[in-house]
Amino acid sequence: MALEQHFDQLKELTLGEMFAKDRSRAGRLTKEALGIYFDYSKHRVTDETLALLMRLARECGLPARIQAMFEGRRINVSEQRAVLHIALREPPGTSLVVDGQEVVAAVHAVLDQMAAFADRVRSGSWRGHTGKRVSTVVNIGIGGSDLGPRMAYEALRAYSQPGLSVRFISNIDGTDFAEVTRGLDPAETLFVVCSKSWHTLETLTNAETAKEWVLAASGGDESAVARHFVAVSTNAKGVSDFGIDTANMFPFWDWVGGRYSLDSAIGLSLMIAIGPERFSEMLQGFHEMDEHFRTSPLEDNLPVLMGLLAVWYNNFFEAESLAVLPYDQYLARLPSYLQQLEMESNGKHVDLKGQTVSYQTGPIIWGQPGTNGQHAFYQLIHQGTKLVPCDFIGFCQTLNPLGRHHDLLMANMFAQTEALAFGRSTAELRQAGVAEWQIPYRVCEGNRPTSTILLDRLTPGSLGKLVALYEHKTFTQGAIWGIDSFDQWGVELGKLLADRIIPELESAADPELDHDDSTNELIRRYRRLR
Ligand code: F6P
Repeated sequence: MALEQHFDQLKELTLGEMFAKDRSRAGRLTKEALGIYFDYSKHRVTDETLALLMRLARECGLPARIQAMFEGRRINVSEQRAVLHIALREPPGTSLVVDGQEVVAAVHAVLDQMAAFADRVRSGSWRGHTGKRVSTVVNIGIGGSDLGPRMAYEALRAYSQPGLSVRFISNIDGTDFAEVTRGLDPAETLFVVCSKSWHTLETLTNAETAKEWVLAASGGDESAVARHFVAVSTNAKGVSDFGIDTANMFPFWDWVGGRYSLDSAIGLSLMIAIGPERFSEMLQGFHEMDEHFRTSPLEDNLPVLMGLLAVWYNNFFEAESLAVLPYDQYLARLPSYLQQLEMESNGKHVDLKGQTVSYQTGPIIWGQPGTNGQHAFYQLIHQGTKLVPCDFIGFCQTLNPLGRHHDLLMANMFAQTEALAFGRSTAELRQAGVAEWQIPYRVCEGNRPTSTILLDRLTPGSLGKLVALYEHKTFTQGAIWGIDSFDQWGVELGKLLADRIIPELESAADPELDHDDSTNELIRRYRRLR
């Protein structure tokens, strides 16, 4: 294959050599779209690499796959579903019909319902059982029903209504519930219970505990539930069986995957925090990136470029992971959000036809905000034996202009990409007067690839563009690998086995155990010592 041959020639070439040889490289290998400046010049690629990657994308049918998603075809083959998170941010008045349903109109009906409710909570016209206004919204959910609103709430904190805070409970560990609700007044707390399926053990258990907590404070008066609980789900029956009035339920649809659901009613707690207008600005940002992805030529298409670069390292350099390093404290939760987005989407071992793949699929995604990570794990990226391509994300303007902080932050971000690309050689160390014996320890080889994603300012709109950029990057990689990026069967087995073990832990009498010897002994020991 042409790319393999090209890789063999290129793999020894360093970024230092590539920059030295070609003074127009930095200008050529940057793209700007929708206010996002994307610098990919510090990647181990040449014009030929990029041309070959574009050819690969065409050979893998990426343009047709993009079209199929936007047309609402059932591209989630293993679940026979359309994949239409892009419909969640279509402006009103556009049309998209799936299975006879006009989905854009349905989306806007729910957005209107959310906005009316959010306004009531924000203005104080929604009152709790005792007549008090809501001061804390607690989102209960896990995975896509938690990470999206949690990440975006943190990211857009500067835009949220003072005096109204949002907290998040996700873990089945009772500590999460206990610590998040510590100090809260049930009379001023509104729970938004989010579960697409309404079958998720963690969410239903936490929601039950929340109900007991509210009822304990209201003397067992069941009518309190309607004032302190709303639900977001596709499962109206489950919601109503739980005791939440379906008038207080915000629906969405099976064509929205959990990890793609931030823009659906799953974003309700975020909308309450930042208000419907800001939420719409975020949707507009998503939509602009959708349009960019749908209509731009592959060569100018930011998500396509990012996806192909990730494929290049994953499948040719055999890089096992990719770090996302936001230089903005507000984006502290972006890496864990992207972990679910990419790893649940592309951690697959069979192709679309169910055949085992003979190549590597999705990499491990990880990261922390800069500059914190610099004092922790960057050492391995600079001098370790593993290749870790990194995304550096920063903003030219800060939302908190405090003295020199922002310049110092950004200086560090630029310095890191420079150091990773060009390193520090023996000659440079010698010239700096470093003792000869110490030089080997201090050499930084450089040649570590990075993308720099620079935006003007963190706003709801720019956050929307950024998240959609990663969504479509994930899609691009899935299309190249020919996998279903929209199912997640791998998480089922653990759930199934936990369901079997739960009664074994809870039974009063010693249960008959029929697991492997290790698991049997762990269960016995736990029962003895708990
Ligand atoms: O266990 C995986 C998963 O299904 C995710 O894909 C999903 O985001 C999460 O669980 C929560 O699911 P639900 O919203 O149905 O509770």
